[in-house]
Amino acid sequence: MTMSTNANNEAEAGHHTPNAGAARSIDSLQHRGKSYPPSPEFTAAAVASADLYAEASDPQAFWAAQSRELLDWATPFASVLDWTNAPFARWFADGTLNVAYNCLDRHVLAGNGDRIAIHWEGEPGDSKSFTYAELTAEVKKAANVLAGLGIVAGDRVAIYLPMIPEAVIAMLAIARLGAVHSVVFGGFSAESLRTRIDDAGAKLVITADGGWRKGRVFPLKPTVDAALAGDPSTVENVLVVRRGENEIDWWGERDSWWHDLMGSADAEHEAQGFEAESPLFILYTSGTTGKPKGILHTSGGYLTQVAFTHRNVFDLKPESDVYWCTADVGWVTGHSYVVYGPLANGATQVMYEGTPDTPHAGRWWEIIQKYGVSIFYAAPTAIRTFMKLGRQIPDEFDLTSLRLLGSVGEPINPEAWNWYRNVIGGGKTPIVDTWWQTETGGIMISPLPGVTATKPGSAQVPLPGIAVDVLDDDGRAVPAGSGGLLVITKPWPGMLRGIWNDPERFVETYWSKFADAPDGPLYFAGDGARLDEDGDIWLLGRVDDVMNVSGHRLSTAEIESSLVSHPFVAESAVVGATDETTGQAVVAFVILRADQAEAVSPEDASEVLRHHVGSQIGAIARPRTIYVVGELPKTRSGKIMRRLLRDVAEGREVGDTTTLADTTVMQVISERLASAAGKRGPEE
Ligand code: PRX
Repeated sequence: MTMSTNANNEAEAGHHTPNAGAARSIDSLQHRGKSYPPSPEFTAAAVASADLYAEASDPQAFWAAQSRELLDWATPFASVLDWTNAPFARWFADGTLNVAYNCLDRHVLAGNGDRIAIHWEGEPGDSKSFTYAELTAEVKKAANVLAGLGIVAGDRVAIYLPMIPEAVIAMLAIARLGAVHSVVFGGFSAESLRTRIDDAGAKLVITADGGWRKGRVFPLKPTVDAALAGDPSTVENVLVVRRGENEIDWWGERDSWWHDLMGSADAEHEAQGFEAESPLFILYTSGTTGKPKGILHTSGGYLTQVAFTHRNVFDLKPESDVYWCTADVGWVTGHSYVVYGPLANGATQVMYEGTPDTPHAGRWWEIIQKYGVSIFYAAPTAIRTFMKLGRQIPDEFDLTSLRLLGSVGEPINPEAWNWYRNVIGGGKTPIVDTWWQTETGGIMISPLPGVTATKPGSAQVPLPGIAVDVLDDDGRAVPAGSGGLLVITKPWPGMLRGIWNDPERFVETYWSKFADAPDGPLYFAGDGARLDEDGDIWLLGRVDDVMNVSGHRLSTAEIESSLVSHPFVAESAVVGATDETTGQAVVAFVILRADQAEAVSPEDASEVLRHHVGSQIGAIARPRTIYVVGELPKTRSGKIMRRLLRDVAEGREVGDTTTLADTTVMQVISERLASAAGKRGPEE
């Protein structure tokens, strides 16, 4: 078996090289010490119990029971899982349901219409709360608006919105019609938006004039206009929410104001059941090649898993809890744990438009105090940033309402975990470190609060109904105390159903590495993991060329193609270097074209190229550092040895260079960068 995901770029493909997160987590292993058993009071009142693991000994029966308990099916299913065409799974395929009805109407019908669904907080300080009855009414009107624009079941609609209630309303209205949303994070560029619109074949784009971020309005509509300029696209209409009040251009034939159409929309809309396997959304994520993958999720299995995990992993008591997940709806965490999981469970939640430090560094903690948030779910990057700023900031606020904390998106180092528990959680809250991916749909590995004794830095155990393993390159399970590749060994209800328009890439990317396992193909997640002596899982970061910056996935190949598309650049290599705050940071090495190398200084070239990547892909992809070099380290067969570049980017002594075609290259690079740094001063 070969390391297919790694072989392109890493010469030493025989063994896997977990990148930056790895170093930190291995370090964490050495700090492993204390674990925190749940308090007897927490356990006594907990939603989850240890019995769940036993109940899940037959995973299919378990998921079927959960699905029947947690969701309302329009037509009950009899078939649970069809895996005959593996890896193309079908869950609950003969059942029908309406996802929006499950998130809205049924709570109103059950007498909970007056419960707050969303406390929305705008960045400038405006706020608005929606009860379940109000949110249902808005979604019904929005469904009629979309139907009026010709949207029918199966159509794709792109959403490019800030974190405002209309983002949730739009997603649910699309789901209500059996149409498919493709949410594109508002930080992506016009070009990235266009690629996603084209790949999905979207008929409609829902956007806003602008949204608030860091104390200013950032315009969104102009990016949509730019995305749709040029060659005709599949988009027929653009629906524009007014939020920023910024000036925008208007195309009368194509554009409509959301508030105009909502103002005259019919308030009645009856939800119809759709097949469990009807597509719910496409969400693009970075892979190991330049082209983002359209991860496809369907309805019944996905909703079952997000409802189950949201309830049990967050110990949700819908009558009394106030839940807050800080993720943007542009990412999968926002889909599963802002929209579908919490609303399917009838939770009351907080949604915040802006950044954590606007207008002051205590904004998050102020929001927790204001709404009495009891369950809080955020990314380690943010925790590390607050840790650096010091505890005096959160200490100014009353955080005693918090009773459970969650972490997602990247490994959380034990120092940050302990700070989170002690400073934010008052030294008493359980922390759930949740491992999952865009592809898995919902949480897969996590402690269960009230059941598991938590361990700082480890995501620990697969959830009930989920089967994972850590294997060596030959597919053998590694013993406790060893590291290997994380795989998921049995199909799960929230699993991706494919890559939009690309079934071959789906099979190749996720199912080919361990295709010949005795019980069918195994899902290879792309992450390295280690089992400790107790058999608990420690995630070690990606083993492929996907980087994780502030919990967001970025592809080295995508940034490299962007760099070489600029006339300055002859060749480039991008690596994810360990960064204290963001987990990893994008570091690029570029060789300038001969005619440019004379004309432009390395400093100017770096600045121009950083902006170029920012405008081509989006600000999140802008490299932290770009080094202009004369050569790149390559093997005799021409493959770039990223391992060595990571050594340079992380300021380490360069490792073994004996397989390089020219063994002096690294020395030349290191010397050149050292002398450039000497000239420039220590700013980078
Ligand atoms: O490397 C793992 C890391 O994030 C990747 C998935 O990224 P994405 O699809 O953008 O989804 C992020 C939110 C679910 C994984 O392959 N990752 C996610 N959660 C954790 C994590 N790494 C370590 N610990 C986690 N809790």
